Amino acid sequence: MCDICSNHHINLDMNNLLKGKKGIIFGALNSESIAWKVAEQCHQQGAQIVLTNAPMAMRLGEINGLAEAINAPVVPADATSIEEIENLFTKSIEHFGGQVDFVLHSIGMSVNVRKNRPYTDLNYDFLTKGWDVSAVSFHKVLQTAYKMDAIADWGSVLGLTYMAAQRTFPDYSDMAENKAYLESIARSFGYHYGLKSKVRVNTISQSPTMTTAGSGVKGFDGFMSFAEKMSPLGNATAKDCADYCVAMFSDLTRRVTMQNLYNDGGFSLMGVSQEVLEKYMESVD
Ligand SMILES: NC(=O)c1ccc[n+]([C@@H]2O[C@H](COP(=O)([O-])OP(=O)(O)OC[C@H]3O[C@@H](n4cnc5c(N)ncnc54)[C@H](O)[C@@H]3O)[C@@H](O)[C@H]2O)c1
Repeated sequence: MCDICSNHHINLDMNNLLKGKKGIIFGALNSESIAWKVAEQCHQQGAQIVLTNAPMAMRLGEINGLAEAINAPVVPADATSIEEIENLFTKSIEHFGGQVDFVLHSIGMSVNVRKNRPYTDLNYDFLTKGWDVSAVSFHKVLQTAYKMDAIADWGSVLGLTYMAAQRTFPDYSDMAENKAYLESIARSFGYHYGLKSKVRVNTISQSPTMTTAGSGVKGFDGFMSFAEKMSPLGNATAKDCADYCVAMFSDLTRRVTMQNLYNDGGFSLMGVSQEVLEKYMESVD
């Protein structure tokens, strides 16, 4: 039975797509986090997981509940610190008794957005910090893994992004540039890692999703309901994103690399929907 709605009989009960695979998941902060759902889905599909997050998130402590539920160790790492990423890969390889098959980078933060700085009055120290956390950290994770040869042949690395990298959204601010940079790293590193050991690197561009990072963006409710009404399939949920990640970590997608993949119910290719148009006309009347 479909677990999206009770009417359809879509077979999502494909077990063990990740049997025997070992993965590191960054970014599970609480049960709303996209990474949380990805970790649960990967576990359900037979993968072994190491969870990681910034020391600050460790102090909040919710991640321990997930760790227990999916029987995964937690190795703290600030994704901007090379030493901490090295330690993470070393500990993970020890734990798994070998290389890692997949990595999820699910990390985003803009200090300018947090502090409500308008895009036309950015603080550049804040900008640099947010860029390091949200974008450069993806390169740091990839480069560290590459040098340590930490990812097995035909492994899969994913980053999560948002389509503000391509189109302008008010109040997404400097996160738009961070996401553009992140997506570019997937293309560039995808080339090098593909040549070295057939590792694929992609980004998934996800619909607006109600999480701690998401709801930090001003006017986020409006964002979400607009996207819902624009998208023929409606917004992709965190669970939908987790399903897509499982597919991308599985052996079914071995030659998909260097892509930015939209998981957005069709939003990215819409001009306008009838529903949005009607709402707009109501407000004009
Ligand atoms: N929520 C949305 O609407 C949406 C849409 C598209 C893409 N995304 C992306 O999905 C990813 C996950 O975000 P989320 O919505 O699940 O929110 P979230 O707040 O649950 O997750 C963000 C995570 O980043 C971690 N983090 C912050 N600084 C870090 C650091 N220095 N080192 C390591 N980890 C650090 C946080 O601890 C947190 O776990 C982000 O890249 C986000 O931009 C979110």
